[in-house]
Amino acid sequence: MPSGTVDTGLIWNTMQLENKDSGSGLRSGLITAHNLCKSFTNGGVSVEILRDLHFDLSAGETVAIVGASGIGKSTLLHILGTLDRPDSGQLLYKGEDVFSYDDVSLARFRNKSVGFVFQFHHLLPEFNAVENTMMPALIGGANKRDATRTAEDLLVRVGLKDRLLYRVGKLSGGEQQRVALARALVLKPAVLLADEPTGNLDESNSEHIHSLLIELNREFSMTLVVVTHNSQLASLMSSRVTIADGKLTDLP
Ligand SMILES: Nc1ncnc2c1ncn2[C@@H]1O[C@H](COP(=O)(O)OP(=O)(O)O)[C@@H](O)[C@H]1O
Ligand SMILES: [Mg+2]
Repeated sequence: MPSGTVDTGLIWNTMQLENKDSGSGLRSGLITAHNLCKSFTNGGVSVEILRDLHFDLSAGETVAIVGASGIGKSTLLHILGTLDRPDSGQLLYKGEDVFSYDDVSLARFRNKSVGFVFQFHHLLPEFNAVENTMMPALIGGANKRDATRTAEDLLVRVGLKDRLLYRVGKLSGGEQQRVALARALVLKPAVLLADEPTGNLDESNSEHIHSLLIELNREFSMTLVVVTHNSQLASLMSSRVTIADGKLTDLP
């Protein structure tokens, strides 16, 4: 392998070991949020979405964020994924205050550690499924051949074996959603944050993706934070929370 390139297979194995370590001893906090506040101003009116919200998640845990549209689920997920900043409060990954990083370091951290499935995909329509999926790996420094192989394997795993070279603009909403999931997994992140990952899928494809998420959690201790309206997916997570008055509330 040429110097300066990253073997994606090696990254997957390394992550596995890291997570195994954290699972074998005392469960340490992987993500901790303190006093998160976030407001948005619409039409001159400021609305508080998150208010002194606390969040604590150990490596390998799985949690579903559920609840009505507009309560702030995506807002919270974007902050947990460091894609948006809170107005105040702290977000710690393994005790590190990630919002204290400069933009370049934060982008590097996000690329390496967090996989994000957006509610509205944000794929590149003119590029094919393999190119979209491998993009984070190339940005992270992987060589093209390894990244292509990993992207193809993942696309097969999400059920898109016959769509590898389709431009994603030509794929159905459900197929795009599965490309978005494959892309989020390409660097085998320690944490997968997924915003309604089966929102556009029929029952059989949803069940397939649910099984895949559970497999990833079992095989690699991948930590999962999933926003979902799907009660089956929510029931597969080890805990369920909703947002009320800007704070997290545990559900049965
Ligand atoms: N960038 C933004 N600018 C203004 N308002 C926003 C923005 N993002 C979200 N909101 C508002 O914040 C509220 C929560 O949004 P969101 O987190 O997307 O809800 P959910 O994902 O639970 O449906 C909504 O009322 C939404 O309109
Ligand atoms: Mg949302």
